[in-house]
Amino acid sequence: MRSPTLSPPTVRRRIGSLCAALIVGFLGSATVLVAPPAADAAETTLGRAAAQSGRYFGTAIASGRLNDPAYTTIASREFNSVTAENEMKIDATEPQQGQFNFTAGDRVLNWAVQNGKQVRGHTLAWHSQQPGWMQNLSGGALRQAMINHINGVMAHYKGKITQWDVVNEAFVDGTSGARRDSNLQRTGNDWIEVAFRTARAADPAAKLCYNDYNVENWTWAKTQAMYAMVRDFKQRGVPIDCVGFQSHFNNDSPYHSNFRTTLQNFAALGVDVAITELDIQGASPTTYANVVGDCLAVPRCVGITVWGVRDTDSWRAEHTPLLFNGDGSKKPAYSSVLNALNAVSPTPPPTPSPGTGPIKGVASGRCLDVPGSTTTDGTQLQLWDCNNRTNQQWTYTAGGELRVYGDKCLDAAGTANGAKVQIYSCWGGDNQKWRLNSDGSIVGVQSGLCLDAAANGTANGTLIQLYSCWNGANQRWSRS
Ligand code: G3I
Repeated sequence: MRSPTLSPPTVRRRIGSLCAALIVGFLGSATVLVAPPAADAAETTLGRAAAQSGRYFGTAIASGRLNDPAYTTIASREFNSVTAENEMKIDATEPQQGQFNFTAGDRVLNWAVQNGKQVRGHTLAWHSQQPGWMQNLSGGALRQAMINHINGVMAHYKGKITQWDVVNEAFVDGTSGARRDSNLQRTGNDWIEVAFRTARAADPAAKLCYNDYNVENWTWAKTQAMYAMVRDFKQRGVPIDCVGFQSHFNNDSPYHSNFRTTLQNFAALGVDVAITELDIQGASPTTYANVVGDCLAVPRCVGITVWGVRDTDSWRAEHTPLLFNGDGSKKPAYSSVLNALNAVSPTPPPTPSPGTGPIKGVASGRCLDVPGSTTTDGTQLQLWDCNNRTNQQWTYTAGGELRVYGDKCLDAAGTANGAKVQIYSCWGGDNQKWRLNSDGSIVGVQSGLCLDAAANGTANGTLIQLYSCWNGANQRWSRS
């Protein structure tokens, strides 16, 4: 399968945001630097404003609204992450047992990718929105059906989803801190960890989240129960990467300023945190700004998703809880959120740390390799089993080059999708300069395109090219 295409303006917007950001670190190892934004740089859309601190600002998208130009205009302009509101749920993706249907889910995913947005997957194991056949299952048959479902859906979307809500809403409301009774819970208390272990094996590159609501207030029993579960999972090595706080705030479940404490405490367990379904009854600008401020205060808070575009798109339209009016105009809460995102202080520039070592593809586990250890200019790079030889040793220089053999550079032979990435004698051109971003992408300075394992390939010999950045696992790299 080819890497998806982004429209050029979208690419420019994304890359512009990335350029504006101070991008630090490279999956925790090499530190790199791009020019800091001008002191007065204020972004004019939510996604770009969030990208200044390396975060995303997303929305739930309903496939049925994608033919409404008023809706898509706002959604494509403002947001850089998408969650399918209903289309990747169990009833949508496996309506009959063993018969998967990805039509609506793909519609949302393709729209997102074509418009340069990353995608959160929602959701694989949940007591609600189960198809009839699943509602009627129990015991071992249901447990196996859950495993099969996770495998089927994650295989279809492998490499395309950055974070999956693996399990949704498994704790009961109220003061007990107990698990919610459900057919899944009745298969045994370990159903959640089985779901996570299954998900890790199905798509090792996806971040795996537990997602719930009424867990934002640190003092609530449900929050504490979720915290104890995540702590236990981390202690026992159950694969969990992130916790989603839905953040449906309303008069019965209001925002509380200790939300920041909650986010901090979960992050301290060693997971990312995200605000995944934000809406606020009445859309108080102050409350919206407070929520954004809470996320920005926690380095591991990776992004915010609002649960719909306009008030009229909301599952609780009568609460007018979102950032846009039904006519598409911006509400006061919109400006409040944008200002809060723009108020973030730029990350201080790291000391450039050159460093030498292999560059490993996240999807493939294979290394960026000069075929046959040749030193011939114009040789296209490939993926190959990591072997620590000199043809896989890359030095990131303070000037932004990636050098091999001392005097050969990672070099883009063009600026369009599919341009070959080769070695060439270093000469200081922009086609030999690269940005190593915190999300693992490596972006060519001249083209703004990403270093990409062609056709999503993972095998030895897969060629390396430039392609529009879409945050796929074939465009993410790590250095050790
Ligand atoms: O599409 C059918 C339509 O054909 C039919 O005529 C109509 C009749 O009621 O129903 C329509 O489907 C509805 C669907 O939304 C699409 O609008 C379902 O009834 C309705 O139950 C469903 O509600 C969704 C809800 O999850 C179901 O649990 C909401 O859109 C969706 O926003 C909401 O999202 C959840 C998250 O997944 C988890 N966290 C809470 C959040 C809010 O409830």
